[in-house]
Amino acid sequence: MCGIIGCVAEEPVAGILLEGLRRVEYRGYDSAGMATISGGRLGVKKGAGRVSEIEGRHRMSSMLGSTGMAHTRWATHGGVTDANAHPHASCRETVAVIHNGIIENYIPLRKALRAKGHRFKSETDTEVIAHIVEDEYKRLGDPLKSTLAAVKKLKGQYAIAVLFQDRPDVMTGARKDAPLIVGVGKGMTFLASDVLAFIGYTDRTIFLDNYEVVEITKDSVRIVGLDGKKVKREPNQVAWELSDVSKSDYAHYTLKEINEQPRTVVSAAVQDQEKLEEFAQAVRKAKSLYITASGTSYHAGLLMKFRLNKEAKLRADVVVAGELKEHTEFLGKGSVVVALSQSGETADVMEAVKEAKKHGAKVYSIVNAAGSTLARESDGVLLLNCGPEVGVAATKSFTAQVVVANLVVDAVLGRKHPNGLAELSDAVAQALKCEGQVQELVRQYRDRPDFYFVARGYESPVAMEGALKLKELSYIHAEGMPASELKHGTLALIEKGTPVVVINPSGPIHAESLSNAEELKARGADVIGISDENDEVYRHYIHVPRVQPKFAPIVEAIPLQLLAYHMSVARRNDPDYPRNLAKSVTVK
Ligand code: G6P
Repeated sequence: MCGIIGCVAEEPVAGILLEGLRRVEYRGYDSAGMATISGGRLGVKKGAGRVSEIEGRHRMSSMLGSTGMAHTRWATHGGVTDANAHPHASCRETVAVIHNGIIENYIPLRKALRAKGHRFKSETDTEVIAHIVEDEYKRLGDPLKSTLAAVKKLKGQYAIAVLFQDRPDVMTGARKDAPLIVGVGKGMTFLASDVLAFIGYTDRTIFLDNYEVVEITKDSVRIVGLDGKKVKREPNQVAWELSDVSKSDYAHYTLKEINEQPRTVVSAAVQDQEKLEEFAQAVRKAKSLYITASGTSYHAGLLMKFRLNKEAKLRADVVVAGELKEHTEFLGKGSVVVALSQSGETADVMEAVKEAKKHGAKVYSIVNAAGSTLARESDGVLLLNCGPEVGVAATKSFTAQVVVANLVVDAVLGRKHPNGLAELSDAVAQALKCEGQVQELVRQYRDRPDFYFVARGYESPVAMEGALKLKELSYIHAEGMPASELKHGTLALIEKGTPVVVINPSGPIHAESLSNAEELKARGADVIGISDENDEVYRHYIHVPRVQPKFAPIVEAIPLQLLAYHMSVARRNDPDYPRNLAKSVTVK
């Protein structure tokens, strides 16, 4: 996955591009680069490293010109090198391209281009696009037409932006299976992979559809389909505000987003009643019901399934999105697939949706990014309304998913009006007060090689989420599992001082989890209890307020998120941009 930002304006754009680049850096942070047109020349500055490093090395912000584009890379084809960083220019350096996605047929294309005399400077799949556009532009002499002709030759996924040296007044773009959004400002027009990139300048957006090609100038937008026919689309206003994408006084986005949760658990519950009812009806009437998602969203899906089974008496299969195609025996006309995704762009989730549709199933989704591919391709959508999430590790989107999933289950049960949200918000605020205690735990356990997280019943997915958060941010090996599974293997790994987090709310499973805690203690583990009720078996106890059982995972997630965050900081990692991970993974 990569981040794209382009701008055609009346004023110099380098500063605007750099600002946008920093906001889409969550999409990839291997390499960065910028291209602008100034004085009739196309200039490119780029290299391997974080945006700040490339800015330090090349001073991208000093580039002149009122038309330009910039890119943050997450390598797929070709290693992390200066030459492989985007933008990529054509042989005569008259055309430059930035790209997010994968060009599947780049090898035959490159071979054919080489035979025609094109010389390649990188190992990327992207570079073929620059060479093809150069050829087509020579033939057709028109930016939009040549971009259209070029994308017709591409197979795979792409969102691209293209600059033409002799046309400093325009930029073109195209998309297929990767997001590309037009931002319509005053005297400036943008192309970007995320609204966040230009939200400080305009909130008027046009979401491009697959197979659309666009040409922007500072005050116009022209969209055509692959058949070359004009597409008419008016800009929409997005609800996100600039303040949502600043770090405020927090050291990291992740910490800011964790602290936003007293508010976001409430905003997530603000849903259109008709849409909610339609979603619930679909779930209720489904011939077979699947829930699919990846990563953290998968854990929210597991929680949703629990209540659907236990309370609504509905059977649902929860399948990791990347595996859905292997579980299609009961998928057909009349089936419903519920997809959960923060970004709405995860490739595995989109593949699962494709599979669902192929079998005639309906897709209902719970998504944060309005206008994302998943949101647009679903038969019904409920948005998380928790604002943009920049930190790579999902935090507030997880708790918002739990709120929305609960609303759906409540609606399935015929309970129309959500209650207890004010109390939930207060409880989350209370839970956040454990930060000092969590920091103490971090001081004690920061050098431990392993962590375990266990729970029972409805809380089991919370244990898995706690382990995932810790792995993602601290790089410590962590496992989360039902406490009942401990005796089937994992106990062999428990040694003196091994930290084991037991998530154990009061209620029917409390006593059984306490027995597991005793077993762990007897084998030398340092048991860390997260509960609304203390017990002497815990070496450390983190109190979370008592809430309705359906909301318990939300308050329990708070200390787990803080643990992962502070562990990351203590181990000198970057919690916002953990190694080897991307915010949304748009490759399979
Ligand atoms: C990536 C992220 C995870 C996220 C998962 C699913 O792996 O690093 O934090 O949970 O994708 O993302 P989605 O946007 O579909 O919820």
